[in-house]
Amino acid sequence: MSFKVAVVGATGNVGREMLNILDERGFPVSEVVALASRRSQGTEVSFGDRTLKVKALDQYDFSDTDICVMSAGGNVSKEWSPKIGKQGCVVIDNSSAFRYDQDVPLIVPEVNPDAISLFTRKNIIANPNCSTAQLVVALKPLHDVATIKRVVVATYQSVSGAGKEGMDELFTQTRAVFVADQVDVKKFTKRIAFNVIPHIDVFLDDGFTKEEWKMVAETKKMLDPKIKLTATCVRVPVFIGHSEAVNIEFEKPITADEAREILREAPGCQVLDKREDGGYITPLESAGEDATFISRIREDSTVDNGLSMWVVSDNLRKGAALNAVQIAELLVERGLIQPKKKAA
Ligand SMILES: NC(=O)c1ccc[n+]([C@@H]2O[C@H](COP(=O)([O-])OP(=O)(O)OC[C@H]3O[C@@H](n4cnc5c(N)ncnc54)[C@H](OP(=O)(O)O)[C@@H]3O)[C@@H](O)[C@H]2O)c1
Repeated sequence: MSFKVAVVGATGNVGREMLNILDERGFPVSEVVALASRRSQGTEVSFGDRTLKVKALDQYDFSDTDICVMSAGGNVSKEWSPKIGKQGCVVIDNSSAFRYDQDVPLIVPEVNPDAISLFTRKNIIANPNCSTAQLVVALKPLHDVATIKRVVVATYQSVSGAGKEGMDELFTQTRAVFVADQVDVKKFTKRIAFNVIPHIDVFLDDGFTKEEWKMVAETKKMLDPKIKLTATCVRVPVFIGHSEAVNIEFEKPITADEAREILREAPGCQVLDKREDGGYITPLESAGEDATFISRIREDSTVDNGLSMWVVSDNLRKGAALNAVQIAELLVERGLIQPKKKAA
């Protein structure tokens, strides 16, 4: 059984990674189609050792396509995902357009795989925000054992989370600083080279940013609506890999050693936690990896049943493309999708 898969946003950071991961994991494809805006029509992207010519989304007919992995931003998704879904093609969307829609499942396969069956309502499945995806992978196994009451998280998010323009801006500004050129600020609100910016997405009325609100809403939707979470999301001059300093208050007692053992066995998690120089993960080492890495696990005696830890993952992989491909794999494993065209 193999599937015709369309990758929308194939020229972008997430789309390119999507093509890599579909190939690396040997997802059963009969054909892969690379789609982007008309600007990219005819340009080439790699899929394994093959080269695909990019087609324009608005000229493509989805009627014989089985799965569409969409990573072209919220506006494109809002316009296209419902139309594509109505053509019988299952959309796995990376944007925030449908994440909070009650008729659209928001899925991290290690966390809430059973919620996927809801997808038939709209033929759309949402992928969470990159910073939430890695957080819930690390929280879920601890929540199952000791019940999380409250989480306080500060993120250190890489520039690739803001698309290819974000990566270009860090590179261009860093170069400009070194050659004593003028440093232009375009994509971010302040200079990102040799700086950090405590502002991701738009401000809301209560003073939090939309990125911070997303972490709250998505953790509640996927893990448990009773969990209280507060976040501070910060952009840092790192190309790939989001890091998070996480403080958790549990209902039941749990020691750092117990948490370490639980996380060692947990799907998608890798513990790297030695109390010595370099005995922890940094975003540089997480780039290109699939795992959510957990380091610096320690008890926090300032609250009852408190733990602190450091969680790092490649935001383009677990935070986006890998999670989307795992969702496609889940559809296949559970027999929730059949190819429209039977293999000859
Ligand atoms: N980066 C992350 O860590 C991350 C994590 C989770 C979710 N996401 C989400 O994934 C999406 C893409 O992110 P990214 O980082 O890959 O951005 P990106 O590098 O800026 O790429 C954007 C992609 O969207 C395409 N696109 C833009 N307008 C289009 C249109 N009108 N029709 C068809 N295609 C269009 C672009 O094609 P052209 O090259 O033709 O312009 C490009 O392929 C966003 O919704 C983002 O929120 C990103």
